Amino acid sequence: MKRLLSLAALFTAAAADQQEVKLLPEGPGKDAVVKVCLECHGVANFRKVRKDAGEWTDSVQDMVDRGAKATQPEMDAIAAYLVKNFGKGARVQMNSAPLEEIKAVLGFTVPEAQAVVEYREQNGPYKDWRGLLKAPGIDAARVEAKKDAMAF
Ligand code: HEC
Repeated sequence: MKRLLSLAALFTAAAADQQEVKLLPEGPGKDAVVKVCLECHGVANFRKVRKDAGEWTDSVQDMVDRGAKATQPEMDAIAAYLVKNFGKGARVQMNSAPLEEIKAVLGFTVPEAQAVVEYREQNGPYKDWRGLLKAPGIDAARVEAKKDAMAF
């Protein structure tokens, strides 16, 4: 029984990862990110921050120093992908961002960020920032103040 339970937990974790992978923006370097960067932690670690090219290059090197397995071309592709999607000033993709990114980059509270994600999961993609106002418990003023930092 115990074994069955841990197997179930494993499948749940794998399913969550697949969902995270699906929600990562498409583009060059994504394959390398998926191969190299999800072995020890989820996508939130890198989605919730904004760094410039130098900082992302350092961060990728730091992960390799911690044990991430990547060739130099993979490291370059990963850094380029991260700069493009999570560089300084990169907008938050409201139809794919995890709770942590919405919280950290836009300054939403945890319950607000959670409501944004849950409403999206139940009702499908948002069309624009006004759509977010339908998610329960959202501070309309905060959404409007941050609308230029969002993408749909
Ligand atoms: C060998 C395991 C491992 C792999 C593979 C790995 N990381 Fe990490 N990463 C860690 C650990 C450990 C931490 C610190 C604890 C935490 O936040 O989970 C961390 C934290 C982070 C952080 C937050 C802290 C910081 O330095 O800004 C970012 C960003 C990050 N990782 C990005 C990446 C990227 C990008 C990749 C792919 C190149 C990657 N990680 C692959 C182990 C790993």
